[in-house]
Amino acid sequence: MHKSDFDPEESAPGGLTRRGWIGTLGALAMTGGLLAGYGTFAAYALRFLYPPRPQDKVWLLVAPVASFAKGDNLSFRTPSGAKVAIARQGDSEDVESFIALGSTCPHLGCQVFWEGQNNRFFCPCHNGEFDPSGKGIGGPPGEAGQSLPRYPLKVETGLLYIQVPAEGLPQPRAELEQV
Ligand code: FES
Repeated sequence: MHKSDFDPEESAPGGLTRRGWIGTLGALAMTGGLLAGYGTFAAYALRFLYPPRPQDKVWLLVAPVASFAKGDNLSFRTPSGAKVAIARQGDSEDVESFIALGSTCPHLGCQVFWEGQNNRFFCPCHNGEFDPSGKGIGGPPGEAGQSLPRYPLKVETGLLYIQVPAEGLPQPRAELEQV
């Protein structure tokens, strides 16, 4: 009797037929897909049941103070994705020389940056101007009385730190194990 090259009942190494191998591989793929699906579901369920508390704040390292010259502007992004402009406005090595402001313009969302030579934060989209503390003084933000939100800073052992919401950081392992 003639046997086709693709006989599904032909034995393969290990005693399984081709049909058996295909069935086994299919079952493994389905099991992997189910596990991935359940894992994703569990991750979403944990985030829903135990979301980061919005009031939680953390201190994050920005940079060594010595790496900033007076007039420098550094772009920083918080763990939740908010953009922050950190500027050095003074000569001293203490925290009073620095300021951190949310850099998303309250007018239409362009990015604001520190212009040391003009002693202002500036938004190039519509010539928005903010004073060194982030208060709107010109352009649309000035007319609307809008300001940039401020973030706390501190200096310790020559390093500059910023305090930001903990939202967006991975949950501590110990908290997850309490679930
Ligand atoms: S977006 Fe900044 S002034 Fe319009």
